[in-house]
Amino acid sequence: MIQRPALHAIGIALASLAFGALARAEGDPARGAQAARTCMACHSFAPSRHLTGPSLAGVLGRKAGTADGFARYSDALKQSGLVWDKRNLDAWLKNPAALVPGNAMTFPGIADARTRADLVAYLEAVSKGRVKVPDRGLPNLKELDAASRVTSIRYCGDTYRLTTADRKTHVFWEFNLRFKTDGSAAGPAAGQPVLIGTGMQGDRAAVVFARPEEISAFIQRRCP
Ligand code: HEC
Repeated sequence: MIQRPALHAIGIALASLAFGALARAEGDPARGAQAARTCMACHSFAPSRHLTGPSLAGVLGRKAGTADGFARYSDALKQSGLVWDKRNLDAWLKNPAALVPGNAMTFPGIADARTRADLVAYLEAVSKGRVKVPDRGLPNLKELDAASRVTSIRYCGDTYRLTTADRKTHVFWEFNLRFKTDGSAAGPAAGQPVLIGTGMQGDRAAVVFARPEEISAFIQRRCP
């Protein structure tokens, strides 16, 4: 026996079949903004804000692989000859590996045509400056409080001991502490690394420096 929710689902499926063509033509940028959260793990919609992937500001109408200042495009995308019109964006979001074999966007694609239309409508609204975009919520690392500002790092045995500007000491097994750099405008000030992690109580964290040269210079080999 078919349960009522199943019948309901079939109804929705039929409705989306019937209205599929219409939905493709009329993507909704507000719904697209919600769907775009999946993209924000790797993309910002703010101009020049490059993350794992290039900023998507102004992408509609742009030649593929040409966002100013993004240094990690694959050769495949740069040589694709594509221009990001709505049709190509839809095909990319449906199956990036099929449109540009060998590209570097590790994203499986979105099967639902309606969701893709919404995303393309959002990308269009962003590109035409019709919506205010979130800047991904990444903190500016120059503006963190004393609890995050690292004043010293000591290394002894298999252990790092970090002191922060609020005079607290944080102890990590060496394998649980990562050293990163952020040379962007939102990165830490030179010589003032910051501690970030999943809550400062967590057993794993990262120290972010402005430049790679600072890292070993900052760490003292000293036992308590
Ligand atoms: C896991 C990280 C990741 C996710 C998630 C992701 N992307 Fe990407 N995206 C990338 C990378 C990396 C590239 C560059 C690919 C290359 O050079 O081959 C890229 C490239 C692109 C491009 C081409 C940009 C250009 O300048 O040519 C578009 C458009 C795009 N992504 C849209 C999206 C949208 C929309 C979503 C969400 C539905 C999304 N991406 C999700 C990593 C990601």
